[in-house]
Amino acid sequence: MKNIFNYFSIVIFLFIFVFIVLVFFNEKNRNDNKFSNSVSMESASEQILLGSSLYLNNCASCHGNKLEGQPKWNTEKDSDGHNYAPPLNGTGHAWHHDFETLFNIIRYGFKKMDPNYKGKMIGNDDLTDDEIWSILAYVKSIWPDSIKDQYESTNNN
Ligand code: HEC
Repeated sequence: MKNIFNYFSIVIFLFIFVFIVLVFFNEKNRNDNKFSNSVSMESASEQILLGSSLYLNNCASCHGNKLEGQPKWNTEKDSDGHNYAPPLNGTGHAWHHDFETLFNIIRYGFKKMDPNYKGKMIGNDDLTDDEIWSILAYVKSIWPDSIKDQYESTNNN
């Protein structure tokens, strides 16, 4: 009788253990796949890879090859009197915006928020939605873990 009891407790323990592991991995995948919510067959790493090449072709000329922004972005204006491009690497304030706002900035530029905007951040008509999500996945992958964690908790994602 005692043996049967032990056997049952081990089985029950294993069930609970497997359950916790499954819940944990499910949570983790949900977070990792944040940017894949636009139907996409690519795995997260392929998405980031695609995002990095799109970033280099479309954004790096202003925001820098390493997302470091232009040197005097927060102290001076450029020769046209416009803002320089801020860093997107987690040191600027891009990460204060939720996904949707970031998506809209990239798709429509700052004009979407300020119709009188005359600066350099114009929209990107040529990129598909999936391409914009890939760029965002890439940008986010560069952020330090502390910023990612803060971002996920403030945006409830
Ligand atoms: C011609 C230069 C230029 C290009 C190209 C450009 N940007 Fe920008 N971007 C800017 C400037 C300048 C700002 C700041 C807006 C302002 O204050 O005028 C900005 C702002 C942003 C912001 C908001 C950052 C913040 O801290 O709030 C994001 C996000 C962003 N850009 C992403 C992108 C992405 C992604 C691409 C490529 C698809 C891109 N930009 C291409 C110049 C550029």
